[in-house]
Amino acid sequence: MKLAIILGTRPETIKLAPLILACKERHIPYIILHTGQHYSYNMDQLFFEELALPKPDYHLHLSLTSGGQGEQVGKMLIGIEEILQKEKPSAILVQGDTNSVLAGALAAAKLQIPIAHVEAGLRSYDRSMPEELNRIITDHLSTYLFVPTPLARDIALKEGITKTSIILTGNTVVDAITLYKEKALQSTFLKTYKLKKQEYILVTAHRAENVDHADKLQNIFTGLQRLAQETQLPLIYPLHPRTKKFMTAYNIQAPKEVQVIDPIGFFDFLQAEMFARLVLTDSGGVQEETCILGIPCVTLRENTERPETLTVGSNVLAGTNPEKILSCSLAMLAKKPTWKQPFGDGKAGHHMLDYLQSVLT
Ligand code: UD1
Ligand code: UDP
Repeated sequence: MKLAIILGTRPETIKLAPLILACKERHIPYIILHTGQHYSYNMDQLFFEELALPKPDYHLHLSLTSGGQGEQVGKMLIGIEEILQKEKPSAILVQGDTNSVLAGALAAAKLQIPIAHVEAGLRSYDRSMPEELNRIITDHLSTYLFVPTPLARDIALKEGITKTSIILTGNTVVDAITLYKEKALQSTFLKTYKLKKQEYILVTAHRAENVDHADKLQNIFTGLQRLAQETQLPLIYPLHPRTKKFMTAYNIQAPKEVQVIDPIGFFDFLQAEMFARLVLTDSGGVQEETCILGIPCVTLRENTERPETLTVGSNVLAGTNPEKILSCSLAMLAKKPTWKQPFGDGKAGHHMLDYLQSVLT
């Protein structure tokens, strides 16, 4: 068995890290193919260094700073196909819902190489999101769907995917938190930014459906400002490069109550989440991590493909209306974190490899 692990963005590196380390531990042959979708040091290489991951065997080094969705996927597809033809892996592994995932799945499907989709079966039921299209297409091209929760399994089943292709494993985000929690506790993030435990609010927002629109982006900042004024708590916001780009394009400034910083490493971010009073986000991974860490979360979106977090009560949908951001935040601040996280036992990576070894060797 030889696996080709295809990745390209920050969340894929973080969520595939436990699997890569498990491959190493179990002496399973694998290659890492990096699409180059994320390329800034603090969105990419930093995570390979922190998480002690081997350097990618292949890097497409594409220039993906401009161009549309199709161009991005098309460029990756050409590069991935060539490498897969040469390497002839027994299966490819992709994680999540980015354009790198779609390109990897398309390239493998055309070459008749089995696809294992990590974090399959998620749906927001909002096809205006590029991620939703990527999820649907990838799931329907995949040979093995590693679903994180029973709900994701039921979604895949309802869409007519064969029962035997769907494997309930949990989400590797639990594995990552388990592996790196100690390192996060040792981070100096709180000290560096002079924050006190439970006395600050952490923010991230980068989704195209939010930050690409001047009105929504401005509304988010207005909501954050209202929240800071109401609670008198400091807000800290590690800014995704996409958000930075659109703030510049629309000439939108962060209010003085919100401390905007560059993207931070995983250990720092995990510490920032662990000790936050509240987290506001439109990130998929952050909705899960807050649920796992017992921190209340307000999601700056109208829908989520992680409804399990709403059901257990760790998360609430606020959208981008400033008043709704404020009211949802105040409600979540009053909440006791008594929920049980639904994302598995922290051994999802090993469950996936157990399964792949049983079918591919
Ligand atoms: C992508 C994913 C999104 C995921 C996010 C994780 C798709 C369609 N979207 O969005 O689902 O939540 O990654 O963070 O795949 N940029 C940099 N440096 C980088 C990366 C990006 O400056 O390392 C800037 C560039 O201006 C680039 C823009 O951010 O054009 C957007 O990057 P892109 O990878 O296209 O999408 P993300 O918004 O990062
Ligand atoms: N993250 C990080 N540094 C940051 C912001 C986020 O390490 O400055 C981590 C976070 O802990 C989570 C992942 O990045 O594991 C989420 O990535 P992102 O929000 O970019 O993508 P999404 O999950 O929305 O696809």
